[in-house]
Amino acid sequence: MPSVTVTRRMRFNAAHRVFNPAFSDAENDATFGKCNNPNWHGHNYTLDVSVEGPIDKRTGYVLDLAKLRDTVEREVVGVVDHRNFNLDVAFMKGVIPTSENIIVAFWKILQPAVSPGRLSKLVLWETENNYVEYSGH
Ligand code: NI
Repeated sequence: MPSVTVTRRMRFNAAHRVFNPAFSDAENDATFGKCNNPNWHGHNYTLDVSVEGPIDKRTGYVLDLAKLRDTVEREVVGVVDHRNFNLDVAFMKGVIPTSENIIVAFWKILQPAVSPGRLSKLVLWETENNYVEYSGH
């Protein structure tokens, strides 16, 4: 049975400030530059959620992408959209809200949520030019 990867693209926007509260102001400035702006800044994020599995003989699908969309919306996108990662998002509490940390947090939530589908990859675009990928290891 061929194994196929299907991907749903989701979009959201959110604010953050990238800084380490253990650093001095000078260290934060030197390390994070304008991402350390104390009054926040925002991004239009794009999230690609990929699930891999065999094709169901009865449907011809790996899984119903509308159901995957609903799951991702309920579990992560609806929780972070139009929010501030530093202030509003419980699962990011105490974590520097870089794309690296956000994608790992998303994985921990989505991996059980898409079961029995197998989450195979997340890609998170913070800008047109910068993205991170995570495959769970
Ligand atoms: Ni930023």
